[in-house]
Parts: sequence; structure tokens; C-alpha cells
Amino acid sequence: MIEARGLTKRYGGLVALSDLSFTVEPGRVTGFLGPNGSGKSTAMRVIMGLDHPDGGRATIGGRSYHDLRWPLREVGALLETRAFHPGRTARAHLAALAAASRIPERRVDEVLEFVGLAEAARRRAGKFSLGMCQRLGLAAALLGDPAVLLLDEPMNGLDPEGIRWLRNLLREMAGQGRTVLVSSHLISEISITAQHLVVIGQGRLLADTTVSELASRAGSLEDAIFDLTMGQIAGSRS
Ligand SMILES: Nc1ncnc2c1ncn2[C@@H]1O[C@H](COP(=O)(O)OP(=O)(O)O)[C@@H](O)[C@H]1O
Ligand SMILES: [Mg+2]
Repeated sequence: MIEARGLTKRYGGLVALSDLSFTVEPGRVTGFLGPNGSGKSTAMRVIMGLDHPDGGRATIGGRSYHDLRWPLREVGALLETRAFHPGRTARAHLAALAAASRIPERRVDEVLEFVGLAEAARRRAGKFSLGMCQRLGLAAALLGDPAVLLLDEPMNGLDPEGIRWLRNLLREMAGQGRTVLVSSHLISEISITAQHLVVIGQGRLLADTTVSELASRAGSLEDAIFDLTMGQIAGSRS
């Protein structure tokens, strides 16, 4: 379970997160939806202990990221950045991560095979396409077989086959009782993948509900989310 309580984050005069609270439950895929710049990546970085909030607290299984004994075995994350040394091969990158977390090396080949990078394992990751980078990031996230997964726009750059594969993977992970939070700015994509939605706008919570409940509020999910974001813009003007 992931819990965000009253998260506030400012960058100079800009408020990226504003008293944001939500809970991500295990056993279902939770979509983290919001337009570009709404604070999704910031919230995910705060949960992963990469950014310090100005207010509030985020926990994973009841503990702050920095208090996790073996982080990679407890939470797998794919964040927006290319978090690897470009000169290293995919395999060397994963092997280094595995060693640091005392994960057996055979797991490296397992995840490379699993994400479809077995053939490219000995190529330099710096030369990878965006889709291949996403797959490598996913491999790193899955390396420690964590109960919690946090993926920031993981569909970006994937081909249609890759998107279908990832969608099934996320559902399967949730079906095994894991906690899965996946961000997207694409309503159509997330509505197929997720059962639950946390919708934010301008760093604030707009909705925390099931996909079907939200869709039933208006003619379609798109309309319901349009109403929420337009309502927020109207509210911030008045
Ligand atoms: N390191 C940073 N320095 C300054 N502003 C930032 C930084 N990271 C994000 N922001 C700003 O915070 C807001 C939220 O950004 P972000 O979390 O990346 O949104 P999203 O992931 O939903 O597109 C944006 O206005 C963005 O420009
Ligand atoms: Mg983002």
C-alpha cells in the first residue's frame, strides 16, 4: 500500500503539489491521471524519496522510502529519467543493481528475458530507443520482485505490442495482490489498464474513485474528467 498524506511541494513560487492525499490499495491497478504539469512525476518522486516535500508525508507499506531495509525488493519504480549509465550494457546495469540489493544474478537474465531485452542484453543502454529504455526501466523495477510498483508514464515510447504486453503485465501483477500505481496523461490508455483512478490537476486531488464510477458521472470518462478539470480552472479564476 502507498499512502500520500497532505503532500505539498513548491519549486520557488510554483506550487507543484498542494495538500495532496490519496491511498493506493493492493490488488488492483490504480491509474494516476492528470494533464501535463499537474504534479504526477513530482508526487512519484516524493513517494520514492527523491524529492523532499515541503509538507505532508508519503509512505510505502507504512514506512518512508528511506526507512525501507531493501528498497529494490520492496518497491519497483520506473521514473521519467533515464536512470542508467549510458556506457553500460543493459545486463551490466541490472547486475550492478542486483548486487547492491543482494539479488541473485540469475534474476537479471530472468527479467531481461521477461521484458523482451534478452537479445539486446549486451548492448550499451545509451544507444537504446525510448521503448527499449522503458523496457530496461521495467526490468529494473521488477528485479527485486517487489510487492509495490510505481511506474511513471511507462507506455511512452512502447509499440502497440509493447503496450498490450505491459497492460497485461500490470493487471497480472495486481492480480497477484501487488500494489500498482501507473501514471498517464492519456485518459483512453489508463481507462483500459486501470480499475481505480486518482485524478489530479494543478497538484490537487480531483477524484479518487473507480474508473466505472467516474465514467458514470458524465456521458464518458473523458467528459467526467473534462468537467473536473474545467471546474478547477473556473474555481481558480473566481
Ligand atoms: N525540478 C523542478 N524544478 C522546477 N519546477 C519543477 C521541477 N519539477 C517539476 N516542476 C514543475 O512542477 C509542476 C509539476 O510537474 P510534474 O510533476 O513533472 O507534472 P506531470 O508529471 O504531471 O507532468 C510543473 O509545473 C513543472 O514545471
Ligand atoms: Mg510527468
